[in-house]
Amino acid sequence: MCGIFGIVVEQEQPLGETLIEAGRRLSYRGYDSVGCATLRDDGTIDLRKDVGKIEKVAERLAFAEMVGQRGIVQLRWATFGAPSQTNAQPHLDSDGDLVGAHNGNVVNNVELREQFIAEGMTVRSTNDGESCVHAVERYVDRGHDMIEAIRRAYQDLEGDYAFVIGRAGDDRLYAIKKGSGLVAGLLDGAACVSSDLPSILPLTRRILRVRDGEIVILRAGGVELRRVEDGNIIEREVEEITDSMESVEKGGYPHFMLKEIHEQPQVAGELIRLLEAASYVSPMVERMATARHLYLVGCGTSYHACLLGAIYLARLAGRPAIPVLAPQFIAQYGPALGPEDVGVFVSQSGETKDVLNGIRVARERGTGILGLVNVLGSTLMNESERYLPLACGYEISVPATKTFTNQAVAFLFLALRMGGHPTADLAHLPDLLEETLAAVEPQVAALEPALVRQDDLYCLGYGLTYPIALEGALKLKEVTYAHCEGMLSTEFKHGPLSAVYDGYPVIFVAGPEDVPLLISGINETTCRGGRAIVIGEEDPRLRTNAHDLIVLPQAGPLLNPLLATLPLQLLSYRLSLARGYDPDFPRNLSKTLTVD
Ligand code: M6R
Repeated sequence: MCGIFGIVVEQEQPLGETLIEAGRRLSYRGYDSVGCATLRDDGTIDLRKDVGKIEKVAERLAFAEMVGQRGIVQLRWATFGAPSQTNAQPHLDSDGDLVGAHNGNVVNNVELREQFIAEGMTVRSTNDGESCVHAVERYVDRGHDMIEAIRRAYQDLEGDYAFVIGRAGDDRLYAIKKGSGLVAGLLDGAACVSSDLPSILPLTRRILRVRDGEIVILRAGGVELRRVEDGNIIEREVEEITDSMESVEKGGYPHFMLKEIHEQPQVAGELIRLLEAASYVSPMVERMATARHLYLVGCGTSYHACLLGAIYLARLAGRPAIPVLAPQFIAQYGPALGPEDVGVFVSQSGETKDVLNGIRVARERGTGILGLVNVLGSTLMNESERYLPLACGYEISVPATKTFTNQAVAFLFLALRMGGHPTADLAHLPDLLEETLAAVEPQVAALEPALVRQDDLYCLGYGLTYPIALEGALKLKEVTYAHCEGMLSTEFKHGPLSAVYDGYPVIFVAGPEDVPLLISGINETTCRGGRAIVIGEEDPRLRTNAHDLIVLPQAGPLLNPLLATLPLQLLSYRLSLARGYDPDFPRNLSKTLTVD
């Protein structure tokens, strides 16, 4: 969790604006607190940090004024230690001549803290990031140089993390990767390192991807990689990133969430074209088709895509697949897994710890590991025998939108191929998505006043729209903080119907094949005074029975769920704003959950 960025330049200069901008671009990784440290030529360290989002803290603590020859910024998503000024990162060592920050988790930090205190070090916080600094301090104090001290600290620090650290009087920064993302950037006369590319790309397109067990040494003139195991230098080719910067900007939209919702027609089209041309689809299909048991594994939104994927596979290819939440995959199927089985692990970030735990168990049992992943170079990608890229570009907003659509598109494509069906019809999907966005935006806006103060609602679907109802409910919860329960429509009468009172809103996601069945559910709600809001294709039966009908373009049962997702995303976005929240950064959450 969290985001780190460090930069080294030739000589002391203003670094504050660079650090603020880098931090701003990493704020999707955590926004409980933020801190900046600069290391100055006179051997002093200027450290400023506090609780809150970067814009506010930077202004309050005048980050812009900070100067130095090296600088570090950290965005925190709290796991160990409450969000507080003391627990904010970066942290100093006992004497104040080392400063560092981490992302991820040091799981043995409580034991380490006791050791550090017993050894006479000054420990100020309960945050695990501070453990990284003292773990290095321990060996620097015993006379080791920084590289050797970091190598030894690595042995002491358990967990998945990356950290960056600098020492007063040195002219370098050092970073290390163990399980969390880390990328280095090369600039003329400078070098930088970060948890992720958005903070690096405005500065340089020349990057080095760091792997687990590697130390990065940043000098003003370049970047050196060393293996933690033996300290030897690693040769790695510099990669040139060609993605447009616009993909990491808001592109004129007020929020990333809205931008990413509107990118769906484009990214779906790109993925469909990519899969049509890709040589890796057939071996993936073959592996899935011939597995004894096929598991589709993910969390949150990615799990909802698995639910939809299982329906597509059964319906189009006659292939049974078991969709399962990643932690439950371990408990429910782990002991029964075998080498004949295959798991398709689905994760936007490719770093979700719950998913990686599932992969570990699958690996131990010899089970095949396939991936659907958006972040290339992620752990999921590296752990997979084969993977399909989701090709969505960066998804910055915490609520997943475009990655859900492309996860669903990828499953639909795989199911069509497995069943021997043509995929040509998918070419219409981008236009249908575009048409849907244009059609539903005013309809969703019209619904906003009725729902804005509603703290409790249901979202129901059936068959192919059941996963969409769950996904819609998750999105509504995530960004509006209202309670919204997603459910199979037929289950509603088995208990929750008792919650219905006059005006109580129940959203129904109606697939074109299931209208007769949904009509019953709608009436069970409306006859008790409930407000039935239906999302579906134009249909007189829906029109007469529902209170509100959000009309989708006619697309048939297979594409309908993809279209039905869009009004739920837009409704969540609008309600979030109307309730005074920031949909890009819902409270208490983080984009990448690298913790148990
Ligand atoms: O990166 P992942 O796809 O593995 O993330 C899984 C969930 O944390 C994620 O989908 C989460 O539910 C979304 N923020 C919901 O919008």
